[in-house]
Amino acid sequence: MTIKTVLVLVTSLLVALICFWSATSLRGQSQRPGDNDLSNWRPVQELPGIRFVGSKACATCHSTESKTHLVTPMAQALAAASDCQILSTHPRLSFRSGPYSYQIMRQGNGSTYTVTDGAKTISEPILYCFGKGQVGQTYVFKHDGMFYETRVSYYKETQNLDFTTGHPRSPSTSLEDALGRRLSAAEVQECFTCHSTASVIGSQLQLNQLIPGVSCEGCHGPGEKHIAAAKARKFKELQIFNPGNMDADGLTQEFCGSCHRSFDQVMVMPRQAGLNNIRFQPYRIFNSRGHKGDPRINCVACHNPHDKLEHDAAYYDSKCLACHLTGSGDAKTPSRSAAACPVSKQQCAKCHMPKVELPEMHFKFTDHWIRIVKPNEPVPN
Ligand code: HEC
Ligand code: HEC
Ligand code: HEC
Ligand code: HEC
Ligand code: HEC
Ligand code: HEC
Ligand code: HEC
Repeated sequence: MTIKTVLVLVTSLLVALICFWSATSLRGQSQRPGDNDLSNWRPVQELPGIRFVGSKACATCHSTESKTHLVTPMAQALAAASDCQILSTHPRLSFRSGPYSYQIMRQGNGSTYTVTDGAKTISEPILYCFGKGQVGQTYVFKHDGMFYETRVSYYKETQNLDFTTGHPRSPSTSLEDALGRRLSAAEVQECFTCHSTASVIGSQLQLNQLIPGVSCEGCHGPGEKHIAAAKARKFKELQIFNPGNMDADGLTQEFCGSCHRSFDQVMVMPRQAGLNNIRFQPYRIFNSRGHKGDPRINCVACHNPHDKLEHDAAYYDSKCLACHLTGSGDAKTPSRSAAACPVSKQQCAKCHMPKVELPEMHFKFTDHWIRIVKPNEPVPN
């Protein structure tokens, strides 16, 4: 080894160390409470000290995003019982399991959840409806001062109640047990941070401040300072988080993945959540050979977070063909050089992103593990 190579090695080691050190110290800084730098915002992380103003306040200046956002299921991922559409259009829902019968009854602006074994009965008012009901809807209520998730949920396909996903199907051993699952304080905070905005302030659950659903600020961070900056025409310091500035993997895993579950989050789940991880698109796409780390395949390449989901398979073809060739006559470029399909030139997602039913949820999810699907082959995990 010459002195020159040693010097080069030592210098690069030093540079690497400095880079590592400054990256970690920056990260350390970003987690300091009270730090208001919005460039460090992530959806389910709290950023104390700036006020949330609500999505209406954004509409005056951002009419394009605002016009379509409200109709998205994300914007409606949670509702107070009084505003809950499904409960008002389905005034009586019922279900039976062994000796226990369940009922959800609408009266005026409220709904009551009742479980009885014939001898004893527990009735509690429903506080919140979780989920718009694209797949289903689960209810949250309080019993003996604790938050619970109902043992039964509404499913769109059956238009009625069935067991909530993840709850035991075997007969309950007591009325208390039949009622539902008691949520730990940490779990309550997690549920509300993914399905609503500004529900946790100063590490405390503050339901009186909650904005239902994933609002503009649920993704972009609290807007108070941004609006002040925009009004003062300080365009260089807009004080709002734009996820469009993240790299492809960051946007998919750290941003959308903070709610839709990242690869890292799923890896620590027992058996990677089994077939249930079909719901965790960031995990699925990360496993898909050739489909990560490129902006043409991050979540917003195929989904506009401000608009409703596109159901027509043909819509996605142009996304695939941004990288894949269509046939041998097609011009190969460095950026568009992935193999052409020997089978078809259209509706790529139909065959390569198949729908997989989760029987517990009465719903067919779209497999984001893009691949060649062989007949009779089990869904990879
Ligand atoms: C008084 C007008 C005004 C209001 C109200 C307003 N904005 Fe903005 N916003 C702007 C302007 C001006 C820009 C810069 C030009 C552009 O990107 O449209 C901007 C840019 C943005 C950007 C892109 C930032 C970047 O770095 O590229 C985001 C994201 C954003 N606004 C979100 C919001 C959200 C969320 C709200 C509601 C909490 C909101 N805005 C309310 C005026 C406003
Ligand atoms: C703060 C949490 C949160 C973040 C961040 C988030 N989502 Fe969601 N998303 C949800 C929830 C909750 C639902 C379920 C809404 C419902 O149906 O009740 C959902 C549903 C969806 C749907 C399904 C809509 C439908 O019609 O069924 C799509 C598509 C989606 N999200 C895409 C994205 C993308 C893309 C990103 C990143 C840009 C993202 N989400 C970030 C919480 C989040
Ligand atoms: C880490 C974020 C996160 C947490 C925590 C979370 N959810 Fe969700 N939830 C989502 C996302 C993302 C979706 C949409 C994709 C899917 O169906 O898995 C969703 C979907 C749902 C749906 C189906 C919505 C629909 O329109 O069909 C229900 C019901 C639901 N969640 C209830 C709950 C309840 C109740 C809790 C707490 C006990 C909870 N969730 C905790 C992120 C979360
Ligand atoms: C589910 C998360 C999510 C929600 C909710 C959301 N946004 Fe966004 N927004 C994004 C992402 C991701 C981008 C970057 C998109 C891209 O680069 O393609 C973005 C970009 C923007 C931009 C910059 C657009 C540009 O051309 O650069 C503005 C402005 C904006 N959003 C405003 C809003 C407003 C206003 C609302 C509420 C009506 C809202 N957003 C709700 C995720 C979200
Ligand atoms: C290559 C295009 C593509 C990319 C990239 C992509 N999706 Fe999808 N996504 C689809 C298609 C196609 C559907 C099914 C639409 C339909 O038929 O209703 C879908 C459906 C969904 C749904 C609705 C539930 C379901 O299973 O049908 C959610 C939620 C979702 N995607 C979230 C995400 C998230 C989060 C990311 C980023 C990890 C992502 N998607 C990346 C193409 C894509
Ligand atoms: C960012 C560019 C890009 C996009 C967008 C993209 N692909 Fe690919 N895809 C690749 C690359 C690169 C490979 C090759 C991986 C390898 O062979 O090493 C690949 C491989 C594949 C394979 C073979 C997988 C295997 O396991 O052998 C299929 C099937 C496929 N893509 C389908 C699709 C479909 C369908 C879409 C749209 C929904 C899509 N791709 C979008 C880049 C892309
Ligand atoms: C009708 C179902 C179907 C449709 C639609 C379809 N494919 Fe395929 N695709 C297949 C099958 C099956 C194979 C495996 C063929 C084989 O191995 O002989 C395949 C193979 C592939 C491969 C691997 C090629 C290789 O040389 O390794 C890629 C990439 C691919 N498809 C991409 C696409 C894209 C992009 C589209 C849309 C333009 C598309 N497919 C539409 C069924 C389909």
